[in-house]
Amino acid sequence: MIRHRVLVVGGGLAGLRAAIAAREQGANTAVLCRLHPLRSASVAAQGGINAALGNAPEGGADTPEKHALDTIRASAYLADQGAVALLAAEAPARVFEAENWGCPFSRTPEGRIAQRPFGGAGLPRTCYAADRTGQALVHTLHGVALRHGVRFYEEFVAISLAEEDGAVFGLVAVNLATGDLVPVQCEAIVLATGGAGRLYARSTNGVLNTGSGMVLAYQAGAPLKDMEFVQFHPTSLAGGNVLVSEAARGEGGQLKNACGERFMARYAPQDMELAPRDVTARAIQSEIEAGRGFPGGHVHLDLTHLGEEPYRDRLKGVREVVRAFVGVDPAVEPIPVQPAQHYMMGGIGTDEHGATPLGGVFAAGECACVSVHGANRLGGNSLLETLVFGRRAGASAAVAARDRRPRRVPAAVVSEALRRTRQEWMALVRANGPESPVRLRRTLQATMTEKIGICRDGPGLNEAAATLASLQERFRRIGITRGSRCYNLELLGAWELRGMLVLAEVIALAALRRQETRGAHCRRDHPRRDDRRWLVHTGVQRGLDGPLLSSLPVDVSLRPPGTD
Ligand code: FUM
Repeated sequence: MIRHRVLVVGGGLAGLRAAIAAREQGANTAVLCRLHPLRSASVAAQGGINAALGNAPEGGADTPEKHALDTIRASAYLADQGAVALLAAEAPARVFEAENWGCPFSRTPEGRIAQRPFGGAGLPRTCYAADRTGQALVHTLHGVALRHGVRFYEEFVAISLAEEDGAVFGLVAVNLATGDLVPVQCEAIVLATGGAGRLYARSTNGVLNTGSGMVLAYQAGAPLKDMEFVQFHPTSLAGGNVLVSEAARGEGGQLKNACGERFMARYAPQDMELAPRDVTARAIQSEIEAGRGFPGGHVHLDLTHLGEEPYRDRLKGVREVVRAFVGVDPAVEPIPVQPAQHYMMGGIGTDEHGATPLGGVFAAGECACVSVHGANRLGGNSLLETLVFGRRAGASAAVAARDRRPRRVPAAVVSEALRRTRQEWMALVRANGPESPVRLRRTLQATMTEKIGICRDGPGLNEAAATLASLQERFRRIGITRGSRCYNLELLGAWELRGMLVLAEVIALAALRRQETRGAHCRRDHPRRDDRRWLVHTGVQRGLDGPLLSSLPVDVSLRPPGTD
């Protein structure tokens, strides 16, 4: 059996920062990750990381308080304001720390960290490393983690937690290369598995973002929070939905419909293309639905008036991606873009130290809900969240692991989890029914995109819930055709599909229950925000007969709604 004091699940930025923090506390720490960390989803983050450094000429007067206020407003007052204040206050320290570790941030002429404007922020606050900020940060933190002696298990996927009576002592993972189920014992786990974009047909997320950490926690008894809030990035490349960074709009990119109109003037006349993402994605969707989009369902992001200058450094990667995927040079032709699922604001409910109600389990990054994003996340706040709350979760996990006094013999709990998981795994290996996991997954993704997308309504959500229930039923008749043990992605995909169906059901029920429009949750049949009834978080706990939903209080201690 593998043994470590702290086990981090996920090799992206939140996981790396958590592992470094746990090592800083002296804990024997390992990271278990599906891919090499340099291929994690964090690498795809382009635009940057927010911190009130005040380095841009127009941003001289920036402060953490302004950062917090912009975040609270963009969240439609659903973020917990104490957590937001922490996020904004610790941001400069985390950015300078990454700089000191060697992150190659772009520079102002004076040599300071450069900052660009992003949507929903009053000032240029987003620090960047060209348009590859995630990549630069991941390379930096991976190096630091290695230097700190963090052990990495690559191409391992956690498939169940070893839980007993509300306490977790390890997990069971599958080693993709051999197909073996591997028991891992630890005193504390940090889940940092990222988002769940693959629930949707159109997503900027990579194939590994299946919501696996949320599923692990939920199935072991931890509550999920605010799962109805799903962010759609306004500008993904039409077709494959590769991200076209908000930085392109920060540079002056203009959104135009098929009539050549700069249509944001109708939806956000003041902020135009730099309105918050929920507003901009809905505006694009409205133009397409009104028949003013281009055939195939997209609009144009026009940068042709900017000439060559942005591509020398700041948007070099965007140009490469757009050329490679759609054969368009953004310096001379507009980019075809459409909204796509980008981020889950909801996730495993945690406190400000990343702790969940499950003993020994912490969570950080996109799979967690602290909550600092509320109903809508500001661009540039997710990389920041990974560093601020990854560090907090890793440090807290190390301390909790040291002080833990288990009542049961942990190894016995892990062995029992291995026995149970092996039984279920082998049942799937032997499954020979007529239903194809790929077909079920496609139906799931189409349902989520059509019925629980940018705009929702009661009848559509009810239809989605019924389709999801029928998919769960069909899953019982699934068949696995590949027999090999090594890299059997069909088998892993089927295992994950079962969890994805559960998550999708949670999202549908939470979206159905919230009868208002707030941030990214747009109900056509309830078009207004309703603070009287719905200024609450949605909690979801696993019940015997399905998800149990409840309302939880929101911390509005800094700036209650209506006081602006
Ligand atoms: O558009 C972007 O570069 C994405 C940034 C983010 O989601 O924070």
